[in-house]
Amino acid sequence: MTVETSVKSRGLEGIVVGETAISTVGKEGVGLTYRGYDIHDLANKSSFEEVAYLLIYGTLPTLQQLQNYRDKLIKLRRLPNELKSMLEMIPGGAHPMEVLRTSVSMLGTLETESAQYTGYNIADRLIACTPSMLLYWYQFHKNNIRIEPWNTEEQTIAGYFLHLLHGKKPDDEMRRCLDVSLILYAEHEFNASTFAARVTTSTESDFYSVIVSAIGTLRGALHGGANEEAMRLISLFKTPEQATVGVKEMLAKKAKIMGFGHRVYKKSDPRSDIIKAWSEKLSHQARDGYLFNVSEAIEKVMWDEKKLFPNLDFYSATAYHFCGIPTPLFTPLFVMARLSGWSAHIFEQRANNRLIRPEAEYIGPAPRAYPPIETRG
Ligand code: COA
Repeated sequence: MTVETSVKSRGLEGIVVGETAISTVGKEGVGLTYRGYDIHDLANKSSFEEVAYLLIYGTLPTLQQLQNYRDKLIKLRRLPNELKSMLEMIPGGAHPMEVLRTSVSMLGTLETESAQYTGYNIADRLIACTPSMLLYWYQFHKNNIRIEPWNTEEQTIAGYFLHLLHGKKPDDEMRRCLDVSLILYAEHEFNASTFAARVTTSTESDFYSVIVSAIGTLRGALHGGANEEAMRLISLFKTPEQATVGVKEMLAKKAKIMGFGHRVYKKSDPRSDIIKAWSEKLSHQARDGYLFNVSEAIEKVMWDEKKLFPNLDFYSATAYHFCGIPTPLFTPLFVMARLSGWSAHIFEQRANNRLIRPEAEYIGPAPRAYPPIETRG
């Protein structure tokens, strides 16, 4: 049955395409909640593991449930040998998002969704082992070492990631900064990658295929890739004054400044101030802490000239940079966090599924006769 509608919106802006009990976004820079909890409370008081549990299992864990969940995630860090061999074969020059996309797909052939590997088990498995996948590949190709990383004493995903990356126990502030950023990135209603995940889920596809769709969608510069682009821009400038001039010139040429603007938020992004505070805090101990001042200068120009505000990706860039994280790993960190939100949406879509299949307005040629091949040209 076709639903008659005259509404048309190329980017689906303003169109409600489904219901969710997972998060609210709000429009005016307030009102971002995960299962009813305000993002500020979660960022201040929670850990990423608690938030992942909340999103996937629907309630905040008790102390015992949290410890069990952390233990489970730690046990799920190990990679199968076949996957490690494949990671060694992926070129060292590949983008880490390609590595994650391919690794998730490969794991789907080894631990295929089934009665043994249920959706919930796969959700936890992927959250636990994406740092392993990414950094096994990274360390093999960059430093020529085969890490056996799964035994670090780090209890949290944030600490585990930083430990694998730097080969030593991370600084406490950096660990917490990354933990908070994973909370902020964990979920955001019907954004592009989550919508892609729901479309793929709606065809009754398997869990891994859904996540591969979502990773591919997240990668683009207009979505998750913006944090990497923001860092490249910020790094162009040595002083706030240079940044002011440079960004004005870019705007005059109608360039888009990545990390600014938002499809839903019209006044501010409630996550931005939280990560900005972390970026500032870490800038004081960083060698190139001036990049924070450069970022603030860019923020000011964008507001003065365009009334555009930074979204989560903008100050995440310098926050990650000050944690010593290489820029190409920024969007994969977004994946590590958003796996929790995507998983929650998979379960929600599956619980009340309907194939997502919109319609298009046809603007091509009118019906015409099929010409024999010898008459064409
Ligand atoms: N830099 C410069 N101008 C921007 C801009 C940016 N980051 N974001 C929006 N604009 C301008 C557009 O050029 C357009 O101007 P115009 O009306 O003069 O043509 C106007 O603001 C509306 O932008 P539009 O792209 O139509 O809004 P949207 O709702 O489609 O865009 C985004 C939302 C996120 C895609 C857009 O703001 C963007 O591309 N931002 C940069 C990428 C980014 O940071 N993505 C992460 C999002 S969390």
